[in-house]
Amino acid sequence: MNNRYTTEEYVSMIDAALEKTLEKCGDNVVSEAMKYSVRNGGKRVRPLLVLEFCRICGGDINDALPFACAVEMIHTYSLIHDDLPCMDNDDMRRGQPSCHIKFKENFALLAGDSLLTFAFSSVLNSEVAKNDPAMALEALSVLAECAGNAGMIGGQVIDLESEGKQISSDTLEKMDRLKTGALIKASCVIGVVVAHGSDEAKLAAADFAEKLGQAFQVIDDILDVIGNEETLGKPVGSDVQSNKSTYVSLLGLELSEQFAKKLTGEALSCLEFFGEEAVYLREFSKKLLSRRN
Ligand code: IPE
Ligand code: IPE
Ligand code: MG
Ligand code: MG
Ligand code: MG
Repeated sequence: MNNRYTTEEYVSMIDAALEKTLEKCGDNVVSEAMKYSVRNGGKRVRPLLVLEFCRICGGDINDALPFACAVEMIHTYSLIHDDLPCMDNDDMRRGQPSCHIKFKENFALLAGDSLLTFAFSSVLNSEVAKNDPAMALEALSVLAECAGNAGMIGGQVIDLESEGKQISSDTLEKMDRLKTGALIKASCVIGVVVAHGSDEAKLAAADFAEKLGQAFQVIDDILDVIGNEETLGKPVGSDVQSNKSTYVSLLGLELSEQFAKKLTGEALSCLEFFGEEAVYLREFSKKLLSRRN
């Protein structure tokens, strides 16, 4: 089996690949805004999942890097738009002024749009896509489906429509599965696709990602209440201020914490398919449960 990597090694590989990719994103104010938001740190959870799923399925992580960058660029675009005054109206992101505070709303909007399109064009122009177009087509189709209105965007719609309302736990579950789970699912499945893994492996990766993604959003909701603004790098109390429907507003803190733990346990069970090789993913999932940012 392939070499194993630490989280630090993965993050530096991802940051270097993003930096290289962004060299080709233009040279106007919008490209500055794109670079500002991508360079702004972040945990790089999604690209890391792309690389690790590729690795455990026997693939070459160098082939997965362009896809990992694409997923992170789409995630960053979603955060830029999520922070806009017409959405969550948050002034801080990843410990710095949000993109629209630094570059004004008009350029932040365009930086988000541009990261979305650039995510696809950068993969299409990569060596790996030229050498293996069928694989790239499958991976990009997963990405487009999960990021679009049937996935992340659809979840953001439910999020906005649920402000100030009492929603059912089914609606809340669907909202989180889409707004956060969908891109995490794309990340895991794309890793398998790049490695030419089996359909069973894709299904196991998708099942794991659904549970992990939901747990990830429940923890995000908890941190919005109990987090420390400096550690978190974004405003605390934003959900209450915007009257958001979250697991914390529905169940309270304690039950939300128990629920996140349960979901993480279920995610770990889905990893059994991958056997011993999934040791890193098991540790990583547990660490996400106790994360503070
Ligand atoms: C924040 O995502 C938004 C959610 C979908 C919960 P992350 O917590 O992964 O944010 P970064 O990338 O580390 O800043
Ligand atoms: C964000 O959810 C989901 C997406 C950006 C798709 P949140 O609105 O809870 O994320 P934060 O808390 O602002 O990072
Ligand atoms: Mg939001
Ligand atoms: Mg938000
Ligand atoms: Mg949040």
